[in-house]
Amino acid sequence: MKLEKFVDELPIPPILKPRWKNQFYTYYEVNMSEFKQSLHGKLHATTVWGYEGSYPGPTIEVESGEIVFVKWINNLPDKHLFPVDYTVHGAHRDVPEVRTVVHVHGACVESESDGYPEAWFTKGFKQVGPYFRKQIYRYDNCTHACTLWYHDHSLGITRLNVYAGLAGFFLIRDHRERLLNLPSGKYDIPLMIQDKTFNQDGSLYYPKQPEKPVPEIETSIIPEFIGDTILVNGKVHPYLKVEPRKYRFRLLNASNTRFFRIKLDSGQLLYQIGTDGGFMQHPVGVKEIMLSPAERAEVIIDFTNLEGKNIMMTNDAPAPFPTGDPVNENTSTVMQFRVTLPLSSVDTSVIPAYMIPIPQINEQSASRVRYLSLNDNMDRYGREFMLLDNKQWDAPITENPKLGSTEIWYLINITTDTHPIHLHLINFQIIDRRDFDVEKYNKEKIIHYTAQAIPPEPYERGWKDTVRANPNQITRIIMKFGPYTGMYVWHCHILEHEDYEMMRPYIVIR
Ligand code: C2O
Ligand code: CU
Ligand code: CU
Repeated sequence: MKLEKFVDELPIPPILKPRWKNQFYTYYEVNMSEFKQSLHGKLHATTVWGYEGSYPGPTIEVESGEIVFVKWINNLPDKHLFPVDYTVHGAHRDVPEVRTVVHVHGACVESESDGYPEAWFTKGFKQVGPYFRKQIYRYDNCTHACTLWYHDHSLGITRLNVYAGLAGFFLIRDHRERLLNLPSGKYDIPLMIQDKTFNQDGSLYYPKQPEKPVPEIETSIIPEFIGDTILVNGKVHPYLKVEPRKYRFRLLNASNTRFFRIKLDSGQLLYQIGTDGGFMQHPVGVKEIMLSPAERAEVIIDFTNLEGKNIMMTNDAPAPFPTGDPVNENTSTVMQFRVTLPLSSVDTSVIPAYMIPIPQINEQSASRVRYLSLNDNMDRYGREFMLLDNKQWDAPITENPKLGSTEIWYLINITTDTHPIHLHLINFQIIDRRDFDVEKYNKEKIIHYTAQAIPPEPYERGWKDTVRANPNQITRIIMKFGPYTGMYVWHCHILEHEDYEMMRPYIVIR
């Protein structure tokens, strides 16, 4: 469906108020429910799922080191909004159809509060998954200032729960950030970018079958979901009125499958100051930023001297990436900035020359190297599905790093898609990407490089928790495991891949 652009103003999710707070702890309660919300001014209100009656969910803002407890409460109906495929792991008929478990993406958190996919729970905690441990999650927020986000992570239906609206921002602030004199307050705005498809009546559409239907089953998971409409913070192609000054934006790609390559049609630079895991060492001025699902980038955009101008944020990433369809008139537009507000006070904020030290993890410090393939396979219905290291979710755990140890992972992509690979608990650094001979690898299991190693892009040089692993390339990442032990997961963040076997548990051992 084609909806008129720039009809609605960009909504900014409310900041969630804690239930109580003392000098030691902060406590929040967050209710998930189904409700109607207007996603476009000329469209009937849409039934969505959200947190605290809001899609995106309210922004949770905490201080670095603050100990925060959250009770995530499922108040959803027992029928799903979207077609459930009961053949997918964890989503069989033996479990309730609507299950939730919340993961704070990028959080350094104890295992029992990480939102393990099998730690799901239903309304009133009536039924819980085999790994459910507690009702109230604890977050120690032991990291520097960064832009995290929370979203649902239930085994086998994550794609549907997130598509329904279960996602929100989780921001960690700190003292150092305040000293940087960045644009702040109303000039610091999170932007959650997503694609969706609407039915004529305004309801959300999610396919029941892939293009080539699977006749044996009523509902089948699809290899990827590509929506035809772009939303930011829950509105279709919104506009934002800005003052002629600097703004800080926290970009998040919260789509199921779609990648975004973000640019401004004014040709202006984006001054990137942060990656997934917080500030970079130095800002980098970039013309475009590539964001695969779950990746974040913090940027400063300077609207100074642009009074009266309309500036469009555009996208030109093919979907699926990199070999899918090019963008069209609809999907090439993200949102619009209108420099129409008067300058309310002199802009004294800065683009700092230096943010924080980012010590490079030394390759020599790694005690273990893992070679992990990203590959595809065929299921018993003839459907293609993706795997990590050729193993399904239920196979015994193979990634078992020691607490405090450093490892290098070789992500060997022998598929034709780029996969955004995400690890829970830790932040990593990208070492490099390098082309290799896939045919030779498939035949002889030997890595034969065919080109020089490519260092990470300037906008990836910082702490990351999600990395694009391109086809025909080996992407190397390095990380230190800790400070917690226990069960976590690593997976492709294309939600259709994650739900259908491109996810593996991993365990940090003592
Ligand atoms: Cu954004 Cu495992 O999640
Ligand atoms: Cu995560
Ligand atoms: Cu994938």
